[in-house]
Amino acid sequence: MVLKSMTLKGTSLQEPQIFKNLLTSEEHQDLIRQLQPFVSQYDYDPEFNRFSIDSDQSPILKTYAEKLLPIARRFFKSETLLHTYSLFVQYQGPNAKLPPHKDKNACTYTLDYCLYQTVPWELWVENKSYLLSPNEAVAYYGENQLHWREKFNGTSRDHVAMIFFHFAEPDHWFFNP
Ligand SMILES: [Fe+2]
Repeated sequence: MVLKSMTLKGTSLQEPQIFKNLLTSEEHQDLIRQLQPFVSQYDYDPEFNRFSIDSDQSPILKTYAEKLLPIARRFFKSETLLHTYSLFVQYQGPNAKLPPHKDKNACTYTLDYCLYQTVPWELWVENKSYLLSPNEAVAYYGENQLHWREKFNGTSRDHVAMIFFHFAEPDHWFFNP
């Protein structure tokens, strides 16, 4: 018999879940205002065809990750999880890509949040696809659940902007270098 769910420290993993209206519309607009105008100044990674900035470089990401801590703790059923780091990315069409992978960084628990987009682009987690609209997130286990995106259907003028809010337990190597 095949066990359907994996375990993380003895607890069953939740199925990924979409959160609609993760932030208030004021908070959502605030993040767009503070991040979108500067995208061309962020690091460009040709591997994924995306620009990115992390929470060390952009403290607004940390502020919002702390706001989301109660939601993450409730969904992942952990009173102890903490924010590790977050990353804003803007994928640029049509050569944006995200091959199948499990995260090797401090991404035990992930809220994958769509900030804005010109075309929808499904995220796959463990053989199921999740289609997000702006201000929606999908929650999953970045280090334990395989996730990826299929081909980007868009032109060079299209883009998809996400924020990865990552969390982990206090005994994660991230907190114990
Ligand atoms: Fe990932």
